[in-house]
Amino acid sequence: MPLSFDLGTPINTALFLYILYSVQRIIFPSTSKPTTVPHEFKSGYSWMPKSHPPTVLYKVYTPKTLEPFSGRDGGRILLAINGTVFDVTAGRNFYGPNGMYGNFAGRDASRGMAKQSFDLEMLTPIDQPLDNLGDLKQDEIDNMKGWIDHFSNKYIICGKLVENDAI
Ligand code: HEM
Repeated sequence: MPLSFDLGTPINTALFLYILYSVQRIIFPSTSKPTTVPHEFKSGYSWMPKSHPPTVLYKVYTPKTLEPFSGRDGGRILLAINGTVFDVTAGRNFYGPNGMYGNFAGRDASRGMAKQSFDLEMLTPIDQPLDNLGDLKQDEIDNMKGWIDHFSNKYIICGKLVENDAI
C-alpha cells in the first residue's frame, strides 16, 4: 500500500504548518536589529563589553622616553634588554621602587643582565648614546640572551629602544 499523507487529520495539518514555518525561518531569517546595544552577555553573540579591553601599543622608545616608565608614580614599568622593550608591570615586586631590581625600571638593563649585576654603574646615563655592549664576553652575551628568553616568555614585548636622536 503506497504511503499517503492525509492533510485532513489535525495532527498532520499541524505538522505540515510547523514544517512550513521552520522552512520559512531558514529561508528568510529574522533581520531585525535590537533597539539598544546589549552590554552584558545574555544569549547569542550580539553584545558589546562596556569598554575596550586594555591594549598594549608597540612603540619606539629612546632612553629619555623610556625613563618615565619606572613605576615610581605607580604606573607602568618598562625596561629594555638589547634593544627590546618589555612591559614588566606585572613584576612590580621585582622592578617597583622597593623591588630588588628597581634600578632596571625605565632603563636599558642589558649590561646588568649580561653581567648579572644590579650595580648602578651597569646603567648608561639616559642622555648618553646607547651602550653598544662591545666589550662583553661570549658567556655574558649568552647570559643576557637567557634573560631575553625568560622575559619573552613572561612579559609582553611592547617596543624597541633606539638612540635619543633617532626619533
Ligand atoms: C643576592 C643574590 C640574589 C638573590 C637571592 C636573587 C633572588 C631571586 C629570586 C628569588 C627571584 C625570583 C625567581 C622567580 O620567582 O622566578 C629572582 C629573579 C630574578 N633575578 Fe635575582 N637574585 C639575586 C641576584 C640577582 C642579580 C645580581 C641579578 C642581576 C641581573 C638578578 C636578576 C634577577 C631577575 C631579572 C629576575 C627575574 C625577575 C622576573 O621574572 O621578572 N638577580 N632573583
